[in-house]
Amino acid sequence: MVPPDQVRLSMTPASEHRPDARFLIEADLPSLIARAAERIGQAAESSISERDRFSIVLSGGSTPKALYEFLAEDPWRTRIEWEKTHLFWSDERWLPSSSPENNYRMTRDALISKIPIPIANVHPILTDSGTPEESAQAYEDEIRRFFGGASPEFDFVLLGVGTNGHTASLFPYRPTLHENSRLVIADYVEEVRMHRITLTAAAINTARSVAFLVTGSDKASVVAEVATGRRDPERLPAQLISPASGNLRWFLDSPAAANLPVEKVDQDL
Ligand code: 6PG
Repeated sequence: MVPPDQVRLSMTPASEHRPDARFLIEADLPSLIARAAERIGQAAESSISERDRFSIVLSGGSTPKALYEFLAEDPWRTRIEWEKTHLFWSDERWLPSSSPENNYRMTRDALISKIPIPIANVHPILTDSGTPEESAQAYEDEIRRFFGGASPEFDFVLLGVGTNGHTASLFPYRPTLHENSRLVIADYVEEVRMHRITLTAAAINTARSVAFLVTGSDKASVVAEVATGRRDPERLPAQLISPASGNLRWFLDSPAAANLPVEKVDQDL
């Protein structure tokens, strides 16, 4: 069994995947959350020392809630310079911000309401008025404004993966997978019977660092398929995530890592 530490797997040539994806595997959820928080804290520290700000894109769904709650407690509540940290979202469900299923609402309750972050540093995808397309355009404008009109380069992007291989709200076989000029798009996703607003893979891939946070045995097969299986991004959109920086990590608990093929494992010291 792979020791629960950060490891680098050698990729089979057939996988055609990024050989530099790194796997941080912890035995259980609490230790994984603690290690993921550490990595985010390190990224915040280096981004703020280099650029005097830290931009992080947060994912929704249920997995990251425990991480957000952990970041809202000491030491991270006081160790991260929240006044220099900017929160963005990878995607949003087209539901009112008061809905328990809304990603911003989940993050507000788990993290934002408990930390000293200026409201101007919180950049939610707005869903309480207008249309999904207008919201997507407004979010794109917000991102471009934040990066001074230049191409975005988020410091850290945290993503989840659905059991069907979607990430953010990039779902299998959707035209959104091929969008290369827009940063943010709206899509009606039949599979979940709702409109979604999502960063495009192209926008995510500009990030300095991208991490998938995936837990639970129900994700074991999709993790192995996405990370080391044959390339088929139409069916497995998470395979589109390949940051130009090369810094791609998988934060996994042992159950989610259970199906990863391990030919040769180097301890990544
Ligand atoms: C969302 C997320 C989505 C999520 C995956 C995994 O809005 O649902 O952004 O991409 O990360 O669906 O969700 P779970 O963590 O709930 O399994």
